[in-house]
Amino acid sequence: MSQESSSPRDSFSTKFGVIAAAAGSAIGLGNIWRFPYETGVNGGGAFLVVYLVCILLIGLPVMISEFLIGRSAQRNPFGAFKSLAPGKPWYLIGLMGVVAAFMILAFYTVVAGWTLEYIYQSFAGTLKGKDPIELKGMFDSFRYESYRPLLWFVIFIGLTGWVVIAGIKNGIEKYTKILMPMLLIMLVAMSVYVLTLPGAGKGLEFLFKPDFSKLTPNVILKALGQAFFSLSIGMGTLITYGSYIKKKENLGSTALSVAGADTFIAVMAGVAIFPAIFALSNVGEFDVTRLADEGLVFITLPSILYSIPGGPILSTMFFILLSVAALTSTISVLEVIVTYFVEELKLTRKRATISAVASVSILGILSVLFSGVFGFLNFTSANILLPLGGLFIVLFVGWSLSKKITREELTNSGSIKGKFIPLYLFLVKFIAPVAIAIVFIYGIWNAIH
Ligand code: PFF
Repeated sequence: MSQESSSPRDSFSTKFGVIAAAAGSAIGLGNIWRFPYETGVNGGGAFLVVYLVCILLIGLPVMISEFLIGRSAQRNPFGAFKSLAPGKPWYLIGLMGVVAAFMILAFYTVVAGWTLEYIYQSFAGTLKGKDPIELKGMFDSFRYESYRPLLWFVIFIGLTGWVVIAGIKNGIEKYTKILMPMLLIMLVAMSVYVLTLPGAGKGLEFLFKPDFSKLTPNVILKALGQAFFSLSIGMGTLITYGSYIKKKENLGSTALSVAGADTFIAVMAGVAIFPAIFALSNVGEFDVTRLADEGLVFITLPSILYSIPGGPILSTMFFILLSVAALTSTISVLEVIVTYFVEELKLTRKRATISAVASVSILGILSVLFSGVFGFLNFTSANILLPLGGLFIVLFVGWSLSKKITREELTNSGSIKGKFIPLYLFLVKFIAPVAIAIVFIYGIWNAIH
């Protein structure tokens, strides 16, 4: 990945490098922190079904579109739309992406800070011997009654800025290649363990047995928002990454691998968490939704891990892995703002990063102090800005960008077959835009009435 802004642009050296970086952006708190509680509050199985449909019919086409826009334009999102559609207002999508990046960083980094607190608490042994209700109390008093979230937020945003300025992303990639598979192994092992506990079946039922009477326009909007958020699409992150992908890589299969890995991790997090809620605290469905708020992962995962010998070590390890997953995502979001500042406002990389971190910090501090601000940023970025960005991205590729460019990018100038192109074009022209528009209008209408 390019450390400097100027051309010639750098590129990912291997296919695995591309997938690792894009998956590093996609896999993060969205999968392990946000997906389970959104699924929990929005009814379980039915939410999961809509989520999966959104990934396939909307998420994948948007991801492929972002990659192809970025790779053909070789620019940041704002510049990419300017160069592909000169004189037209499509570049506004790029600007909206920069706004979304600010908003996401300002609440996401707060949660990333919580993971640092939980590394510390796991290590210090304070979580030991607590039941889920006590753990919830501890989480709430940490979040609402102490100043530590502020401290951790500042540390995490500083760390993200430092990585982006120092240009050590390549170094980080080296570690993530080992650490992310470890996270996956831990999640799978936890899921398997949790399934052996009495009462676990009820949790699986909650996650996998859809009760479609729970589907409201608002639930569908949230499933769509979660799909966008989890895949890192709709704000140009993957346009930026696409601009660093080599011409010989297959964009379609890259997108498929990234979306597949991302979805698998989210579902695994669900499989570890929901049975645990039922098995460990013996609660009914009412309590699932009561426990399922932003503290969910910080309550259930320590409960699971502390019920196994070696709990403190496992829990420390888990939160370290989670914070690394969060870091590879915050880097990618900050990169959207920094690349824009560098390429369009002609700032040096260092200045760009410092100004971005400073302004995100102001909004971030507000979101630490006021949970209303946190909730607003979380809801609006995922459920409004990202789907809106995605809508315009598919409309752009479906209706404005020349089909010659699309074909060239998807077949690597004719060197690979593009059997899926007609299906892809059908999805970006009709299915994805119509689906996003309907879900969006119904969801917003419903939310304000
Ligand atoms: N996809 C990340 C996650 O699931 O944790 C969050 C995210 C990263 C959203 C980058 C948007 C983005 F552009």
